[in-house]
Amino acid sequence: MSKLKKVVEKFRELHKDEPLVVRSPGRINLIGEHTDYNMGYVLPGAIEKNVFLAIGLRPDMDVNIFAADYGDHYVTSLDGLTSAWKLWPNYILGVLNELKKRGVLLCGVNIVLGGDIPLAAGMSSSAAVTCATAFALNEVFDLGLSKIELAKLAQAAEHDFVGVKCGLMDQFASLHGKKDHLIKLNCKTNEFEYIPFNSSEVSIVLFDTGVKHHLISSAYNDRRSECQRGIDIIKQNEPAVKDLADVTDEMLDKYLKLSNPLVYNRCLYVVEEMTRLKSACGDLERNNYAALGGRMFETHHGLKHLYEVSCKECDFLVDFAVGNSYVMGARMMGGGFGGCTINLISSGRVDDVIAEVRPRYKNEFGKELKVYPAVLSDGTRLENLISV
Ligand code: GLA
Repeated sequence: MSKLKKVVEKFRELHKDEPLVVRSPGRINLIGEHTDYNMGYVLPGAIEKNVFLAIGLRPDMDVNIFAADYGDHYVTSLDGLTSAWKLWPNYILGVLNELKKRGVLLCGVNIVLGGDIPLAAGMSSSAAVTCATAFALNEVFDLGLSKIELAKLAQAAEHDFVGVKCGLMDQFASLHGKKDHLIKLNCKTNEFEYIPFNSSEVSIVLFDTGVKHHLISSAYNDRRSECQRGIDIIKQNEPAVKDLADVTDEMLDKYLKLSNPLVYNRCLYVVEEMTRLKSACGDLERNNYAALGGRMFETHHGLKHLYEVSCKECDFLVDFAVGNSYVMGARMMGGGFGGCTINLISSGRVDDVIAEVRPRYKNEFGKELKVYPAVLSDGTRLENLISV
């Protein structure tokens, strides 16, 4: 049974009602990692891995949520809404809370959700849930919020109810995704353009290390503060600087290199990544996938040695890619500390590469490597239930 059907049937069974259903995708990011909260560019795209969220209104103030994939229920009230002791309901409660904070009058809701985005694998299942929730509430309460407002709402929910001080990339990509396109997003202005990516020459393939990254317990928030520390130091001397997008290599050398080597490394990675992304966009325009791949390898090097957010499994998979002539580029993707690597592979050779990497990974780490082709898809939208 499809995930969509499972979610809809469960909703009908539990609530004897017809829901409104929203589909919200996960995302990849080709290049531009940890640049979003530093006000640089990112190059993500939504993918055909989705969260399905079925919603209906209630006559009272209760929030009744069922996670079909876990078979787990959570019920609370909108009156005195607080975060849950377990993690998963907070992605939904956080969005409700943001709307409450903005003075939106809500009534209770029934929600059933499920999907096929691997959890904690760096494909942003969490943003898919917050975006599905924000999109669904916008529909059922007819709030008239724009996609960018929904993205910010979803991001705020993650900050406040989950505790991850994430940037805007994941939410933006989930909501704005477009089939066969990447999104070049300027995180400083939120201006964006769609970049076509439907080459017959190369395929984007994700290798899932199976190492669950847990951003909260991880050093994600620390990295963000370390970057902020760098900005604060530079600002004392260069008042025009607002964020790392305004910072040059010379400033890093002058104000951080000797006095604060750790902060220097973090900021250097980000400033270099911002430059890399711009060059990568040029490579894409010229269909120069070899050059683009080379930059992905450089990104991984920076994430591993300067930003220090990689792990041995990601490093192993990238090292494999470096040594395989059919893989043009590879790097760890997302927040870090596990999850997936993103690989740019010659289209006719994807099966050969997978056949080679799987046994090697198994041999090294004693576990199966999961592989997902990344198919670029449209963003968050309503589902048509006629045939479900
Ligand atoms: C996570 C965050 C994003 C972004 C990436 C790293 O996915 O949610 O905002 O910072 O890590 O690029």
